[in-house]
Amino acid sequence: MSDAAVRAQALERLSEHLRGCTRCPLSEGRTTVVVGAGDPDADLLFVGEAPGANEDRTGLPFVGQAGKLLDELLAGIGMSRDQVFIANVLKCRPPGNRDPRPDEIDSCRGYLEEQVALIRPRVVCTLGNFATKLLSGRPEGISKVHGQPIPVEVAGVPVTLYPVYHPAAALYTRAMLGSLQDDFARLPALVAGGDAEASAPDAPHAHAARAATAPGADPTQQLGLF
Ligand code: URA
Repeated sequence: MSDAAVRAQALERLSEHLRGCTRCPLSEGRTTVVVGAGDPDADLLFVGEAPGANEDRTGLPFVGQAGKLLDELLAGIGMSRDQVFIANVLKCRPPGNRDPRPDEIDSCRGYLEEQVALIRPRVVCTLGNFATKLLSGRPEGISKVHGQPIPVEVAGVPVTLYPVYHPAAALYTRAMLGSLQDDFARLPALVAGGDAEASAPDAPHAHAARAATAPGADPTQQLGLF
């Protein structure tokens, strides 16, 4: 079995595990766990905040108005959902769509890290403040860092973190929508690895790390996160 197939299987096992998760009280109020969706071998991973009502009902990420905008932004750069993976910081809906709480983020972050470790994207595009602060490990908010690629390691995988405004915020603010479109326009070059600003000078690329996985090795067991 190819390395990508092994990782896809491990991602499916992670999803099954997640569907029964009771790590935090959000599990009591959810209808469905929103694990994430897309290509398990995607070069581009989007990370949003948390499921809303539509996502909680359908089990799919970004299916409301913000999701429509995300689809349009993707189409604007010649891409579609099936070429990327879309996940969230939290996999269960916070009541009334309130902000994620620190203890909920702590309970759930291992799952997101596991997803990054299994998908091994080149670029992780964080949508809004929560995903950006979590994965950058920095306190700067999205209005300061959007559109600026940052080389980071997530769960041992070197990736280019690329923060952009959350589509839900851009739905209501015209200037933010313009910034979001401008920031999206740089994504193809970042994913292709041709954007000089985005490359970490010393970091071996995620795909080099990908090639280093022994054929047949189970990446889930290597990480031991669940
Ligand atoms: N839908 C999601 O799945 N995530 C968000 O952050 C917002 C809407």
